[in-house]
Amino acid sequence: MTGEADPSSGRGVGPVVVVGALGMLGRAWRELLQSRGIEHTGLDLPTLDITDPQSITEHIGKDVRTVINCAAFTDVDGCEDQEPAAHRLNAEAVGHLADHCKTIGATLIHYSTDYVFDGKADSPYTTDHHRDPVNAYGRTKADGEILIEDSGCDFLLIRTSWLYAPWARNFVSGMIRLTRERDELNVVDDQRGRPTSAQHLAASSLSLLDMGERGAFHVTDDGECSWYEFACEIKRLAGNTCDVKPCTSEEFKRPAARPAYSVLDISKTESVLGPMPDWKHNLAEVIGQMEPQSV
Ligand SMILES: NC(=O)c1ccc[n+]([C@@H]2O[C@H](COP(=O)([O-])OP(=O)(O)OC[C@H]3O[C@@H](n4cnc5c(N)ncnc54)[C@H](OP(=O)(O)O)[C@@H]3O)[C@@H](O)[C@H]2O)c1
Repeated sequence: MTGEADPSSGRGVGPVVVVGALGMLGRAWRELLQSRGIEHTGLDLPTLDITDPQSITEHIGKDVRTVINCAAFTDVDGCEDQEPAAHRLNAEAVGHLADHCKTIGATLIHYSTDYVFDGKADSPYTTDHHRDPVNAYGRTKADGEILIEDSGCDFLLIRTSWLYAPWARNFVSGMIRLTRERDELNVVDDQRGRPTSAQHLAASSLSLLDMGERGAFHVTDDGECSWYEFACEIKRLAGNTCDVKPCTSEEFKRPAARPAYSVLDISKTESVLGPMPDWKHNLAEVIGQMEPQSV
């Protein structure tokens, strides 16, 4: 078996509610569920606000079998000076969702991040490595993980990294635009990680769910790179001619610290689903589908 999901999978998981359905990963999930003919509802603000337990009870009924939480405070730099608001969404709201899933007997799929780790390792982070985030976003996401683990609900906690899709604002769409508009661009070369196609992430998550897997998993594309190497490949595939140059994190200061090494170990997932496709393979597919309005 390869990392590609079985197209017939997922038939026993509905009705499904996708939370944060208008976001980058939320859309990948809605399109996947639609293509598989799985009964689902996509909910987002302002209809559903997961920071409000009453709103959760009102919109996620007792018949729901699976709740997929794609909602989050994902502005990593913004979290630094809005940590209480980020905590309400990335942690407390996740606790509310987990409690509700336990009450109605639904399975919760929740997404977390490589940023729960300290970035000081020199080999990929396994699912049971201790959490030690270096920024506010990572702290709030780590607290969300703990609330799920403590809730007693049936859950799949999937950590991922460097997400991209043919839609929405993301690193790939941003780099296509910048390498088209500029003659020269500096991109950080001292942070390494694993890019992840949102479409492949959704399909792999559905396969894990469908195969009865529960607990913590890491799902990313295979291989690893720096942001600079990622940008060079995006520029090449987009056919742009900009001179992309490597720089250091010190030269490209941001409000939030970033882990230097955030490669997630995907071997547990690969032992169930087979090998994940290499990031260059998934990137070429996504760039081939890139929506003009995203770039
Ligand atoms: N993006 C990455 O590179 C990355 C990397 C690692 C992990 N992840 C994780 O992957 C998951 C999906 O990320 P993403 O990039 O797809 O997120 P996204 O595009 O930012 O989408 C999040 C969605 O949640 C909605 N939302 C915000 N507050 C809400 C609330 N109170 N109740 C209900 N919905 C709410 C947002 O609506 P508004 O737009 O109106 O606020 C948005 O539609 C997140 O858990 C994230 O932490 C992402």
